[in-house]
Amino acid sequence: MRRILAPSILAADFNRLGEQMEICARGGAGYLHFDVMDGMFVPNISFGLPVLACIQGKENMVMDVHLMIEDPIRYVDKFSEAGADIVNVHYEACGNLQAVLDRIHGCGKKAGITIKPGTPVDVLIPYLDQAELFLIMSVEPGLGGQAFIPESLDKIRRLRSLLEERDLEADVEVDGGVYHNNVREILDAGANVIVSGSSVFHGNIAENVFAFMEIFKEYE
Ligand code: DX5
Ligand code: ZN
Repeated sequence: MRRILAPSILAADFNRLGEQMEICARGGAGYLHFDVMDGMFVPNISFGLPVLACIQGKENMVMDVHLMIEDPIRYVDKFSEAGADIVNVHYEACGNLQAVLDRIHGCGKKAGITIKPGTPVDVLIPYLDQAELFLIMSVEPGLGGQAFIPESLDKIRRLRSLLEERDLEADVEVDGGVYHNNVREILDAGANVIVSGSSVFHGNIAENVFAFMEIFKEYE
């Protein structure tokens, strides 16, 4: 199973975004995590379509779009056209989740289902073969720089075992409060895509990415 670093540009310096993305790509980050907030599903507003359209394709990273928006089916086509490779929608934000997944696949994109810290993993059971990625939020969505919620580890373990029981190889992604000093337990629990904002973009980005890649090598 490939371990993938997904730097979250929410923590980047937007005045130097291109340069910082390039450092991440050169260091071996495979996905670029793009946090979209609508001020409704979460209290904050971040960035959206024109920014994605501007950066997609620049560094050969997979564009991993995390839609923290109400009723995301409204925007699946637009984010797909703007350059998303993976469209992550929140379980809690969808009326008819199956319709949203079908729409994402209809656009030729990979579908991700995200759950908040208070949502049990078992709600995903009917959809385990319907998405290419499952994202477990390990903080409340809406803000970078929060502390990892330890109960997330059990959710990661449960999700990975549900997938393995069915011989499914979907990505298990973890987002929020991941640092170099806790990432091993997250990988040990069964996650393979690691989102990181603060611990990539604060300080020396090249060194931060390198340190994650060195840890990932222990799992090869
Ligand atoms: C939170 C976002 C995260 C955030 C993670 O709502 O979904 O992607 O950027 O930031 P850190 O790594 O700082 O917890
Ligand atoms: Zn995110």
